[in-house]
Order: sequence, then C-alpha cells, then structure tokens
Amino acid sequence: CKIRHYHFAVVLKNATKLCATKAIVTVNGKFPGPTLYAREGDNMLVRVTNHVHYNVTIHWHGVRQLRTGWSDRPAYITQCPIQPGQNFVYNFTLTGQRGTLLWHAHISWLRTTMHGAIVILPKKGEWWKADTEAVVNQAMQTGLPPNISDAHTINGRPGPVPNCSVDDAYTLHVETGKTYLLRVVNAAVNDELFFKIAYHNLTVVEVDAAYTKPYNTDTLFLGPGQTTTALLKADQGIGKYLIAISPFMDTIVAVDNVTGLGYLRYNRTLAFTPTTLVSIPSVNATPVTSVFSDSLRSLNSKAYPANVPLTVDHSLFFTIGVGINPCATCINGSRVVASINVSFIMPTEALLQAHYYGINGVFTDDFPGKPLMPFDYTCTPPSNLQTNIGTKVYRLAYNSTVQLVIQGNIIIAPESHPTHLHGSNFFVVGRGVGNFDPEKDPSKFNLVDPIERNTVSVPTAGWAAIRFTADNPGVWFFHCHLEVHTTWGLKMAFLVEDGEGPNESIEPPTSDLPKC
Ligand code: C2O
Repeated sequence: CKIRHYHFAVVLKNATKLCATKAIVTVNGKFPGPTLYAREGDNMLVRVTNHVHYNVTIHWHGVRQLRTGWSDRPAYITQCPIQPGQNFVYNFTLTGQRGTLLWHAHISWLRTTMHGAIVILPKKGEWWKADTEAVVNQAMQTGLPPNISDAHTINGRPGPVPNCSVDDAYTLHVETGKTYLLRVVNAAVNDELFFKIAYHNLTVVEVDAAYTKPYNTDTLFLGPGQTTTALLKADQGIGKYLIAISPFMDTIVAVDNVTGLGYLRYNRTLAFTPTTLVSIPSVNATPVTSVFSDSLRSLNSKAYPANVPLTVDHSLFFTIGVGINPCATCINGSRVVASINVSFIMPTEALLQAHYYGINGVFTDDFPGKPLMPFDYTCTPPSNLQTNIGTKVYRLAYNSTVQLVIQGNIIIAPESHPTHLHGSNFFVVGRGVGNFDPEKDPSKFNLVDPIERNTVSVPTAGWAAIRFTADNPGVWFFHCHLEVHTTWGLKMAFLVEDGEGPNESIEPPTSDLPKC
C-alpha cells in the first residue's frame, strides 16, 4: 500500500460550451476535474486550497471513510466548509472497495462544475477481467434540471447540438475484436440517466465500487452519484455509432437537445460515415429502470462475500415526500418542501463537530424511525405529509444492524429518488412498486447476494429496502442525491456511536479543521 499525494487547487476557469464562455469553479482548472487513480488499501492525502470567493468542500462519494469521518465533508454535516484562502488536507484510506467512485463538491450546487472520478484498482495479484490499468475509459456527464439545463455532456463535451458545438463530441476510438472497460459515472446534479451505445451490449461487472455478477444489457441506468463499470465488446467491425445519455425525466421521447451524445468509432472508419441512430427508453420508462436495478447481484464470491446482516436491531421505515407542503416554510432562506419522515433544517455548525466536542443545541437525536402520519403512498394527487421539521439525527449503537425501508411517494414526473448513504455501503435486499407491505414483502427479501451500493433508486410510487451494519462511528448524511431535493429538505443524518474497543471510535480531527 502506498501513500498518494494530490493537490486540488480550487480556481475559476473560463469554459466555452454551447458557443458561450463563462467562468466556472473548477479543480485545477479542469472540467470534469482530475481522475484519482489508486489501489485498494492506499492512503490518500489530498490537499485542497481554496482560491475562489466561495466556501468549498469536497466529498468522496461512496468512500467508506472508516473512522475518518472528518474527511467525508458534506458541509455543516461533518465539518464547516473550507473558506476562501484556506487549505485542508483530506486524509483517508481506501479500504474494502474497488472500482469506480465519484468525488464532488458538497456545498450548495457547486458539484455542477466540481466533480471527477476515483478509480480504485484492486490489490496487486488479484483477479480482474480486463486490464484495468491499460484500458480506462470514462463517460461522465453533468447537467442541471431539464428546465434550466441546455445539454448533458460526456466527459465535459455536449456533443452535436444543432447549430452549435457540432464538432465538440466525445469520441471513443475502438479496435475491432477488443474488449473495453467503460467506467460510467453519473455526475449530473438532478437527472437520473440512461446510457446506451447503438448496436452494442454492455456487461456490468461493478457498481459503486463493489463487484457484481456479470449482467448483460443494452441500457445502463444510473442515478446521480452512482457508478457502473461495464465491459464493451467492439464486435461491429466498422462504423461510427451514437452513444446517448438521456434523462429519465425527459418528456421528449426522441433524441433531443438534452440528450448527451458522443460517438463510438472503429479505427478504420472514415470520418464521414453516417452514425447509426440509437433508440432510448422513452418517458415513463420506470419498468426499464426497475429491470436494470433488480437484475444486479453482488458477485458474492469466496474472495468478495456479500456480508448481508441477517438479523436486524433497528427496523426503520422512512417515507419520502416532495411537493405541495401545507407546512411549507422558508427557513434560513431556503424553501422546505421535501422530507424523509422529517424536513431537515441545515445547521450553522457541523453535526460531527457538535457530536465530537459535545456542543449542545446543534441537533436533536429524536429522528422518528417511523413516519408520524402513515398514508397511502400511491394515491393521487400526491400528498406530502411531513409534519415535522428540524435538525434531527437517528442514533445507532456501534455495530448495530439496520433494516431501512424507504417508501417513495407517487409523483407526477417519472423519477426515482437516488438515495445516498455516507460512511457505509448497504445491501438492497428488496424493491417493489406500490405501498410496502410489512407482512408479505420481507419474506421476498434477497439475503444471499443482494447488490451492494452507496446510492439506491427508490422507484416511483414504490419502495426499496436496504440493510447495513453501523460499524463506522461518526455522523453520516443520508439524502436524495437529486440536489434540488436535498436543498428542499430530503435529507437526514445517522449518528453512529463509538464502540468500546480500541479501534472502534472515530479518530481525532487534525488541527487544520476549518472554522465555521
Ligand atoms: Cu455524493 Cu452527500 O453526496
């Protein structure tokens, strides 16, 4: 294992997209930001220096941060942001994970332009299907909600938008007969995305830095923050094929200007070869998203067993509400119209700091494990019944096990809430449509090889059940990764207490911890 040093300078940089130039906040002047390469077990030291006039913080989405919660850094949850002119060194070790993860800014909506990938190669000497070091391709995209976004991009490139950027498309050059490993990261802010390459199948082998059983499909589906590594066999001989990234929430069926486009091009193909059109899942493609999500299984091999908790200490039921809220309030300048049992109010001091130093009055630990007012989640019109607001955490004893059913509400737009847990992966033991049935549904849970993830798509008017072990002391954010919903209050935090043993408590913070 190695110590890897990186320097992230947060700087403004002019970017020209869609025929217009503006200054954006970047890491090292790059968009997307730098890719970090490391091996399992490596110690990462990332010095972040803030040269812009905004507070910033970087979050390593899905990195477990075992006992190093100080480096997790959603603003005001684990610590205060890095102020203009300040530095902070993130110090964490990549334990028990291999594959692709996202890193992104975790304050306001800065992740729009500040994000990149982390590639964790397996420990040397272990089996892997492809030569990961030689063949690394990424497809990344970013975007705003459909009403204010002008394009989705692949590796920062918007693709052939009519009358503009015609030549600015991402192109993946391939040789016939070779197999390529694609690392696909959904870095969009508010869109779940389909990923498709015309006339090519993909074999998923890893999601969210956990190996999967190989799964063959022609369409990938990724919520924001989710990652998927898939093998692509270049078996078409010659030609230039469209790669399409299309939002689940897009109301236009055909390829349109919110579809990010790129090309897969065989090396003997002439530039003028016409591209082959790709069909993409249409609006209301919930079944396509479910088939994809429900087909994924943990590899669950001898070397990488799926350690699903078989007993449950805390059985929780969280309901998601978004919409017209009778109790809608404007608190600290933001609208609070979304909830997960409770509408979360952002603190002005960080929860982890308050917990560690015993500062009272920053949060309460009375987060309800059940909704205060259960209702029929499939009825129309949607009723958003959160009746409670506050900065509340749910307390978990060290090493206790959790089963959490997240019940989605019916919503007008087709979207599933990509719900993300910091500090632990979880197993998705069940998913279903309609109201969760506590009598019947648990008997169908997969406790053998459920997929391990850090972000789960809770289906439209349906539910997802997850299990995890609270073996990471600290304060861990749990929220919808659609930034708009996070901002509206669809978020909460778990407080995992220290254990009694020698390596069972959070490590002390370093002296460069930013002040509020
Ligand atoms: Cu990817 Cu709380 O974040």
